[in-house]
Amino acid sequence: METLFAALLGFFLGSIPFGLLLTRAAGLGDVRDIGSGSIGATNVLRTGNKGLAAATVLLDAAKGAVPVLIAAYFWPGTEGVAGVAAVAGHCFTPWLNFKGGKGFATAAGVLLALAWPVMLACAAVWAATLAVSRISSVSSMTTVIAAPLIAWAMGYPQVIAPLIAIALIVIIQHRANIGRLMRGEEPKVGGGKNDS
Ligand code: G3P
Repeated sequence: METLFAALLGFFLGSIPFGLLLTRAAGLGDVRDIGSGSIGATNVLRTGNKGLAAATVLLDAAKGAVPVLIAAYFWPGTEGVAGVAAVAGHCFTPWLNFKGGKGFATAAGVLLALAWPVMLACAAVWAATLAVSRISSVSSMTTVIAAPLIAWAMGYPQVIAPLIAIALIVIIQHRANIGRLMRGEEPKVGGGKNDS
């Protein structure tokens, strides 16, 4: 029963589509109509509003961290379930016909609450891959794949299973990005001719 509570809490908080709410509130229309169609911060950035993209990252990460922290406090042992559910809630939100974002920022918040040293190491992987590739999806996918291995190497075996589940969700949500990458059509972040 406690596991169910944690899952419902995570899914409900994760389902709040902050990227869509913020862009609508700012009068920028529906973020799903531009770029990749995602409600995540990378696509919010394509509106040209960096502050809104930063706010989306923070709020999407917070909705991953908060249910994990609540679950850890009230129902110890269920925090991994709460975290996976939060990422699932973001990616398959019932408020948007079970579509949504790609789960990366929410996953970062989940990992911050589950095991912050692993999160710091993953942030370094993310920054390095983004610096080299300049492609948001490449750095997101590389990081979620690396995360369970990093957790194992750093001695956090309890977070490996949730991180594998989160990686599967995030990679599935990137299937269109994978297609664009294979066709050489995935936009880069920042200046340049093929950029977002
Ligand atoms: O974190 C999201 C990123 O990996 C991809 O976003 O909008 O380029 O599909 P987008």
